[in-house]
Amino acid sequence: MTVVGIDDLAIYVPKLYIDYKDFAEARGIEPQKLEYGIGIKKMAITDTNQDPACMAANACLKLMQKNRMHPQDIGRLYIATESALDESKALNSFVIGMLEQVYGESSFEHAGGIECKFACVSGSYALHDNANWIRAEENNDKAAIVIVSDIAKYDIGSAGEYTQGAGAVALLIKQDPRLMAFDPKVASTVIKNEYDFYRPFGKETPLVNGGYSNLLYLIQVKKALDAYKEKALKTGLIKLQDGETVTDYIDLFAVHLPYRRMGEKALAYLLRHEWRHLPRWKQVIKEVGMQEPTPKDPRGTIESVLADTEFMKADEQFRRSFMQTSFYNEVYEKKLASSLEASSVIGNLYTASMYMGLRSLLEFEFKKGTDLAGKRVGFGSYGSGSSAMVFSGLIQPSYKEVVKDMDLEREIGSRIKLSIDQYEQLHRNERDFNESVTNAHREFILVKLGGGTADKAGFRQYDYVS
Ligand code: COA
Repeated sequence: MTVVGIDDLAIYVPKLYIDYKDFAEARGIEPQKLEYGIGIKKMAITDTNQDPACMAANACLKLMQKNRMHPQDIGRLYIATESALDESKALNSFVIGMLEQVYGESSFEHAGGIECKFACVSGSYALHDNANWIRAEENNDKAAIVIVSDIAKYDIGSAGEYTQGAGAVALLIKQDPRLMAFDPKVASTVIKNEYDFYRPFGKETPLVNGGYSNLLYLIQVKKALDAYKEKALKTGLIKLQDGETVTDYIDLFAVHLPYRRMGEKALAYLLRHEWRHLPRWKQVIKEVGMQEPTPKDPRGTIESVLADTEFMKADEQFRRSFMQTSFYNEVYEKKLASSLEASSVIGNLYTASMYMGLRSLLEFEFKKGTDLAGKRVGFGSYGSGSSAMVFSGLIQPSYKEVVKDMDLEREIGSRIKLSIDQYEQLHRNERDFNESVTNAHREFILVKLGGGTADKAGFRQYDYVS
């Protein structure tokens, strides 16, 4: 079978940020809540002349330049986002327009691609659809690029405001990839109509049921993991001995990261689910120091579980103690912690958050000296509304070629801290798009918005600033 996966990836993060201490002071929140309870230190904020299209084009250009690629090497360019700029015109067309300023007019004409939407999970669907396009040999020896690009913007004063961020990741999908090959026939999904987080037409910020969305994320990823497990055992990808579970065969985790702490909680939830029926659970319970609570109605709805305050309180207590155990901490340190570093200093990236997590995992594990060749990465992707996808991939022997030069700090570049007043002015769109805070350098920016006449509304012109 054709081996397909991620050959390389490149990132783009805007230079403006808000510092958690300034933010905490302005909103009257204890800074420790943000630092530890959420796990955020810096949130990336877009400048007036930046949007999801130019962030996507900037990440893509980096990826192409780094790999000395020409548009002729690319057959598909997909973009996953939940920050679309137009109800009809795909983000791709803006991005192609920008890239063609560098590579020449019509240089991408032979290629194809669409914008994909399903909250934060659509990038994972896009990756697999493109991997299958290559497996089906429809690609004419060309590679695919999937870009995930988003601006996570919440209402001022809301609980979501400290889970904001912005950025893009461009992923190169190829046959015989240098970085990671997808495990075949195991990608698993679940889907359900839900209102945990949504953004009706014309609204710039989402409507969020925070606690509900947290729990739904966990439940949906757990269900997708169950489906993955069934496939992994059936295909023989994973063979279990007595007392083992599939997570024992996942060497590293990359999960959806609306904020760092959510990644830690997701790992705890999945491990509890996987370990509960294993012999090791006895030792775990001994260390936790209490029995695992069960809801009054174990087969109830999410609403009924959330309304079961006695259970919720006991479960919080159990989870916190579980996360203190040596059992949890060993897995956390070895398999998850490195993937969370970028999230703390960039914030939520919606579709891009798990892929920035993968990037973080590779860089910081490599810097720790871990030999990553042959390690299996397990992905837990979640999109509100809601759908989850669990899949895995094996890091290839040639991974060092790609990972050795990764340096998050250098790649983000020097950053500008916004005052809370400046941030709020940007948030409220009170500055015109051409009154940017930063001076762009070697990147695409928005230079013209609209065409002056009604029939030109929605026109966006971008330039590359060298
Ligand atoms: N020091 C350390 N930790 C503190 C603290 C302090 N002084 N005060 C509070 N905390 C901790 C809480 O104990 C909690 O930790 P826990 O998760 O381990 O229980 C954490 O900070 C968050 O506080 P909490 O009050 O539970 O939540 P919140 O009202 O701040 O809301 C979200 C958090 C994520 C629900 C909210 O930011 C949100 O709606 N975000 C957008 C939606 C989202 O990201 N959903 C995720 C799924 S897609």
